[in-house]
Amino acid sequence: MTGPTDAQWAALAASARRACGNTWSPYSRFPVGAAVLAGDGAVAAGCNVENASSGLTVCAERVAVFRAVAEGARAIDALVVYTPTAEPVTPCGACRQVLAEFGPDAAVRCICDGERVLDYRLSDLLPHAFSL
Ligand code: THU
Repeated sequence: MTGPTDAQWAALAASARRACGNTWSPYSRFPVGAAVLAGDGAVAAGCNVENASSGLTVCAERVAVFRAVAEGARAIDALVVYTPTAEPVTPCGACRQVLAEFGPDAAVRCICDGERVLDYRLSDLLPHAFSL
């Protein structure tokens, strides 16, 4: 797989940053934005949505994946995660498993307000993912 073009990466990054502005994270005060690139080129974004009943919180990455699927996507080629932190953060284990359902070899880029950018393949972040 060739992966997203520079323009697609830029669009994903802008979308993830924009979505982060919509975060509902009054409990953790840890905003996260994410954006995924579907196989047809569509971009879907998400932010973390927390809940007073804390186990109900959903991460930004899963919101983005579920939005893409709800719009008809069945393949996800790339994910960008943005946090307004000095260092990038990587997706949690649950989000890796959810992404594996639609993008087992998706390109994953983690960006932040600092210079450092982390690039992975999902298969590196989640080797031996569960599947049926
Ligand atoms: N969070 C995400 O949105 N993505 C991750 O990959 C890790 C954690 C959110 C969940 C919660 O709202 C906050 O960050 C702190 O855990």
